Amino acid sequence: MNAVYLSGSGNTKHIVTLLLNELGADGISAPIESGDAEKALEGEEIILAYPTMFSNIPYLVRDFINSHQETWKGKKIFLITTMGLFAGDGTGCAARLLKKYGAEITGGLQIVMPDSIGDCKALKKSKENNKEIIKKADQRVVEAVKSMKEGKYPQEGLSFAAHLAGLFGQRLWFYNKTTGYTDKVKINPDKCVGCGICAKNCPTQNIKIEDGKAVSSDKCTMCYRCVNYCPKQAITLLGKTLYEQPTYDKNSM
Ligand SMILES: Cc1cc2nc3c(=O)[nH]c(=O)nc-3n(C[C@H](O)[C@H](O)[C@H](O)COP(=O)(O)O)c2cc1C
Repeated sequence: MNAVYLSGSGNTKHIVTLLLNELGADGISAPIESGDAEKALEGEEIILAYPTMFSNIPYLVRDFINSHQETWKGKKIFLITTMGLFAGDGTGCAARLLKKYGAEITGGLQIVMPDSIGDCKALKKSKENNKEIIKKADQRVVEAVKSMKEGKYPQEGLSFAAHLAGLFGQRLWFYNKTTGYTDKVKINPDKCVGCGICAKNCPTQNIKIEDGKAVSSDKCTMCYRCVNYCPKQAITLLGKTLYEQPTYDKNSM
């Protein structure tokens, strides 16, 4: 089994890695922005994983699905989404699109992980709480793999009830946030030292270093990698103030 994933703060990458290890799968596991993602699509059975955004698919993932529409026909796809609180039909959104292109959806797994939005105070949790969340998430993956090995794939987020929950719980009100890339990345030039970590890590190459400062454009998929890894806390996106820089590595320590 191969895997392709988008992961801003590392949560989704962790879940995919753990699931593949537990399954004993030794296929390709590739970030969606890497050249290896194309190779991973050559497999018959593929995991597609991403963080839920406003009970929807991150635009980069939608773009990836659409731009490979010839590839999905006949493939068996298992969908994984990670979330801070509520996904609704986080997996279902991709499932419907992939089915349109002829894929067979084998199942879906929706896993609660620490929230990745560093510039929104309302969503912050304590370090102990985040560690506990990761522990529970890991247990859920182990349980899911146990039943997958018996041929019973979890079907989370794929039902009609989940569809309604995602639609009315969030998507209807925030639909415009995920219909395209955004130009809303804000980089404080007084704090930026031009180290290039943001530019190097951005999955859409939306950030460049010009005259020693990071400058963003209009192709942000809101993964928060630049915000959360900036060593000078110079970047914000949805909020104006940075409260913390959550990453899987920090939360799991
Ligand atoms: C722009 C944005 C929107 C998000 N929307 C949701 C949401 O609707 N529901 C939810 O439970 N979590 C939401 N989250 C939280 C992430 O889905 C969650 O923290 C995820 O595990 C991050 O995974 P990653 O580290 O692999 O990027 C959102 C995060 C971002 C950055």
